[in-house]
Amino acid sequence: MKSTTFVTILFGTLLSVLSQPSLADDGKTKLSDSDPTIKSWGKDYPEHVEMYMMMKDTSKPTEYGGNTPYSKLIRFPQLTELWAGYAFSVDFNEERGHYYSQIDQYETKRNDKEFLNSHGFAKFNGQPGACMNCHSGWVPELVREMGWENFNRTPYWDTVAKLEEDHGEGIHGSEMGSTCADCHAPDDMSLRVTRPAYINAMVGRGYEADKKHGLKSSQEDMRNHVCQQCHVEYYFKGKNKELTFPWSNWPKDKPLKVEMIEEYYDNARANGTFKQDWSHKTTKAPMLKMQHPETEMTSSGRHTRDGVTCVDCHMPEKTVNGKQLTNHNLESPLNELTACLSCHDDQSEKQIRAMVRDVQRYTVKELNDAENAILALIEDIKGVREDLAKKAEFKIIEDEQEREAEISKAIQPALEMHRRASMRWDFVGAENSSGIHSPREAWRVLGDALKLAKEGQLLLKESAEHYGIEVKITTEATMPAAPEMINPGNIVGSMPPEVTKRADY
Ligand code: HEC
Ligand code: HEC
Ligand code: HEC
Ligand code: HEC
Ligand code: HEC
Repeated sequence: MKSTTFVTILFGTLLSVLSQPSLADDGKTKLSDSDPTIKSWGKDYPEHVEMYMMMKDTSKPTEYGGNTPYSKLIRFPQLTELWAGYAFSVDFNEERGHYYSQIDQYETKRNDKEFLNSHGFAKFNGQPGACMNCHSGWVPELVREMGWENFNRTPYWDTVAKLEEDHGEGIHGSEMGSTCADCHAPDDMSLRVTRPAYINAMVGRGYEADKKHGLKSSQEDMRNHVCQQCHVEYYFKGKNKELTFPWSNWPKDKPLKVEMIEEYYDNARANGTFKQDWSHKTTKAPMLKMQHPETEMTSSGRHTRDGVTCVDCHMPEKTVNGKQLTNHNLESPLNELTACLSCHDDQSEKQIRAMVRDVQRYTVKELNDAENAILALIEDIKGVREDLAKKAEFKIIEDEQEREAEISKAIQPALEMHRRASMRWDFVGAENSSGIHSPREAWRVLGDALKLAKEGQLLLKESAEHYGIEVKITTEATMPAAPEMINPGNIVGSMPPEVTKRADY
């Protein structure tokens, strides 16, 4: 060994000893929530860090999922009209691994005031820090420092600036994202949940809180709880923008039905706490947007009934350096079928893939049919709104907003159907498994979405007849044009990859 190499190693070791956080009694690095970085938490677990860092990969798209963050709006242009008037209609991409959870929040145009203000959202005033709840490992520390309500309502970029100021240059981007501390307790690395919104929602459903582990739970159930902190439908409640899950009508230990979410939001509308996510740009219906309801959908699945957990499928066992570990590269299980094969050992890889493809392609076909029905309803409402605006009783109302509100009243039953059909369609579409988490529930909900959209057209026809307007019901809706890429050259929002084209024929 050359002496310079020796000195470098010696110096390096010395440096790492000096910068080492203090050790606990068992010789392991002492961990705490006030420093949730992977740098600290991962020191004693190099294999886990290595697996975690595999989530940097963005080269594995699947037919409907995978880790390449291509533009969903370019692949499915219908989304731009289905979400018209909401920021999702300008930027929405396939998600990727946890490594990017904060990076993607920095980058999305849904979090870019200047961009939105100049792209049809003049009144958009910035996202709240509540967005960070599921995108940053610093949340428990931030809640401790700022208080729960203040943390939620503080503007997102102010909290980012605070973190950078308090904790230095090291915590940009991925270092501000999801970490080991999200799922593990600092003293013994046992599984725990850390997110207040989840604990609140579960306590509301009759589960019991626990000081150390967040919830009292069996080890087995923890293998769902850790994921269910974030992979859920949510909204921001009231002036404090408090992150809330619409679960109070979901009974303990039962599968969720989408009607329970709808009932929750209808009650919230009736008692004035939450009217809508947005007003649809074309129809003016009071809309609900569903977001990643993996937890809710999976609860009704065949696998859940048999006690299979998120972790069983997404974090199967893996041998690394001769050790039998839990795979911390959370990705599409279709990249390697090891998880499925551990139970479905009487089937070949080919059979499992065929089984998944059948479910997913059928789900997406049903999804497209529901989309067509909702687009047709939107088109018909648009026509009737225009016709009504020409009628004397509406024409005389000078104030445009007032006039539009009166027109909405005249076709209220159809607008209600738009809300109800769309939240069902979105419940399945925003759920990231394309049906596989609970095939029959996904198809039931999509069937209802289609039915409600068609019912909306009939109710519209009826309302319009009161004003002597004849409606010719649309059956084949016009497909909107695909938007341009926002940032050519960036993988985020890129063109849909080859494998998706095969699935779309
Ligand atoms: C029976 C196995 C199984 C269980 C249990 C399961 N998943 Fe999945 N999950 C899948 C499959 C298969 C896909 C489809 C992947 C694809 O299309 O590439 C998927 C897709 C996903 C995706 C999107 C992945 C991507 O690549 O886009 C997320 C997120 C997800 N699941 C989260 C969860 C959560 C959270 C739970 C527990 C509440 C859960 N899953 C339970 C098998 C499972
Ligand atoms: C309740 C947890 C939760 C909250 C709160 C949350 N997210 Fe997410 N977010 C997720 C999950 C889970 C995914 C991955 C699944 C998906 O994309 O559907 C995700 C994905 C994303 C993505 C990547 C895919 C895309 O949509 O383009 C962006 C960007 C994003 N979120 C931005 C935000 C913003 C902005 C807010 C605040 C308005 C927010 N998130 C609030 C859980 C959350
Ligand atoms: C999204 C949740 C989640 C995150 C984030 C996470 N883990 Fe885990 N971890 C698990 C689960 C689930 C298990 C399996 C525990 C069980 O069922 O006993 C596990 C197991 C472990 C184990 C026990 C050995 C093994 O592999 O089964 C260690 C050590 C560990 N994780 C370290 C880490 C480190 C270090 C990080 C950060 C780089 C991390 N984990 C991030 C969920 C997570
Ligand atoms: C702290 C919140 C949080 C927790 C806890 C969490 N996730 Fe996620 N998950 C996210 C966010 C946010 C994204 C999207 C990241 C992005 O696109 O930037 C995501 C993305 C994913 C993906 C998509 C990966 C890909 O390649 O497209 C899968 C699969 C997934 N999570 C599964 C799980 C499972 C399984 C668990 C539990 C073991 C879990 N997550 C726990 C927030 C969380
Ligand atoms: C822990 C065990 C276990 C794991 C892991 C598992 N399965 Fe299953 N799976 C079952 C059981 C049990 C059933 C129900 C009995 C049956 O139909 O064989 C089932 C049923 C199914 C069905 C029929 C579901 C339905 O609703 O009719 C499909 C499809 C399926 N599994 C796919 C998968 C895929 C894909 C994976 C990997 C991502 C996977 N499974 C992982 C145990 C498992």
